[in-house]
Amino acid sequence: MAHFKIKYAAVLPRPHQTWPLVKRFWPFMQPYKRLIGVVAALMIIGLPISVAAPFLVKYLIDTVVQSGDTRKLFVIGSALIGLTLFGQVLSYGQSLLNNRFHLLVLYRMRRHLFAHLLHLPTSFYTQHDTGYIMSRQRDDLKNLSGMMADTFLRAAINLVRVIIFIGLLFYLDVALAATGLILTVVFFGANLLFSRPLRRRNEAVQEAETKTSTAMHEGVIGISLIKATTQEKVELRRYVRALSEHVRAVFRRDLLEIFSDELIGLAATVGAYFIVLVGAYRIMAGESTFGNLFAFFMYLSNLFGATGSLMRLNSNLQRSMNSLQRIYEVLDTPAETMTAPRTRHKPPQCEIIFNDVSFNYMPEVSVLQNISAKISAGAQVALVGPSGAGKTTFAHLIPRFYEPVTGSILLNGKNLREMHLYDLRRLIGVVPQDVFLFDRTIRENIAYGNHVADPGDIEKAAVAANAHEFIVEFPNGYESKIGERGIRLSGGQKQRLAIAREILRNPPILILDEATSSLDSASEALIQEALQRFKKNRTSIIIAHRLSTVIESDWILVFDKGRIIEQGRHEELLAQGGFYTFLFETQFKRGLVVTD
Ligand SMILES: Nc1ncnc2c1ncn2[C@@H]1O[C@H](COP(=O)(O)OP(=O)(O)O)[C@@H](O)[C@H]1O
Ligand SMILES: [Mg+2]
Repeated sequence: MAHFKIKYAAVLPRPHQTWPLVKRFWPFMQPYKRLIGVVAALMIIGLPISVAAPFLVKYLIDTVVQSGDTRKLFVIGSALIGLTLFGQVLSYGQSLLNNRFHLLVLYRMRRHLFAHLLHLPTSFYTQHDTGYIMSRQRDDLKNLSGMMADTFLRAAINLVRVIIFIGLLFYLDVALAATGLILTVVFFGANLLFSRPLRRRNEAVQEAETKTSTAMHEGVIGISLIKATTQEKVELRRYVRALSEHVRAVFRRDLLEIFSDELIGLAATVGAYFIVLVGAYRIMAGESTFGNLFAFFMYLSNLFGATGSLMRLNSNLQRSMNSLQRIYEVLDTPAETMTAPRTRHKPPQCEIIFNDVSFNYMPEVSVLQNISAKISAGAQVALVGPSGAGKTTFAHLIPRFYEPVTGSILLNGKNLREMHLYDLRRLIGVVPQDVFLFDRTIRENIAYGNHVADPGDIEKAAVAANAHEFIVEFPNGYESKIGERGIRLSGGQKQRLAIAREILRNPPILILDEATSSLDSASEALIQEALQRFKKNRTSIIIAHRLSTVIESDWILVFDKGRIIEQGRHEELLAQGGFYTFLFETQFKRGLVVTD
């Protein structure tokens, strides 16, 4: 019994799960409810046609043929053809409108999903990988058709048809109808029997598909590492393993599918002969007519059609529900809160105060503990400390990429939480170690976040960032396209573009993760020179890897294991002879860099 229950649950819709999902999905369909209305009207108009046609045929065979009236034959014949044509036109219109409806709903859903993704907090992106996010947008959205309004309309219409057809079968011939009904039950019982294993095998195919595309994706993005370590064969083997698994899974599914199709086809044919035999016997016994038998066949095949499409709608619905649930996993993740109304106020100077701030990425794994620090307006503050001490995390709390768990951060005396996110982020320029650039022109990359900038300003910023010279050497100058991930630029060039972008944005606060060893000294000197100009009159927070940066800073925060253990000026800290002195002796002084 329990076993039966599970099977039953797997093949029929579960209303307590279906309706809440439909309700949540409805707002995406609501703007097009007139379109749905027209589709519904076309479906309802088409309904009597499939009911009327077999009766006309019965009348033709039983009455008109007997009477020998050829004029009547012509009229009935024309009516049949006319009705069919009309039905076809209706169904054409219905498909067309339906198609449009689906496209519009998907358009809305896609737009909503991407807008939501853009506003999700940084933590979402550290918790989920790109594959997870992309497959929501790509695969799951494609599967939604089963949740659309027309599915339910179609289900309702088909249910009505099933009832009407069964009624008419009994009206025509009770004995035949009973036989036909038993056949239908056997037929679809067999179908149900196969549907669960089929679905399981289908899931295996989907899983194998994901694996092959992941293997291929990794091969493409990791190509330089693969080449450098000559792992082409290993990667190919990985891919082939996934691919063979895919072939096996597809074959296993097709095997079952073909078998079930053949078996069901056989059942249908044998069933039809059976009906013919029973029908013929009843005609011989004078209990039925040829017209009856013919009409009966037509209704029976209509009944099969309606039942079959009910089952297909159901399996579509199930798939859509799974996909919609996965999409809602993303949509239910709360977006960043803007917290305050926008002011567009841009203070010329910014002072930042950390008040007993603690933070962790995951519960119970403390990353920053009781951090209190003051970053004075216009000062240059260096963050130093071993790798993993929490310097980057500290810096990321300022633009609210993450929120403190306890404590508060004040900007010019105002809690960051009481500022609109955009007001805050407009004040901060971030130049990370690994600069991201879009595959757009150099001009667009420099002007990013500042779309009104005029060409003169862009060039001025590039000059100030020591980038102008290398830019004009490209054949297309500022209009040159940067490849995906900035492949055609060196690390130093990318960083200078990022600096140019921030010079153009002109924020009063600069956060800079100093480059480690990846730059050559000429490139580094150019960057230092550009920064020297840029840092003037700004509050800058620099994760320092270079002795010169540390020495020239107005204030130094020494991080270790998520705490600030010392702070002060270079000479003061050195005089203390503590952890800073140790760092200074072991890392900065010897010209070594702290690597992250
Ligand atoms: N996105 C993240 N999720 C979980 N833990 C993280 C994340 N980023 C950093 N950490 C952890 O937080 C600690 C501090 O990292 P980080 O601030 O990058 O240090 P630093 O910049 O000083 O090298 C490390 O232990 C690191 O493993
Ligand atoms: Mg770091």
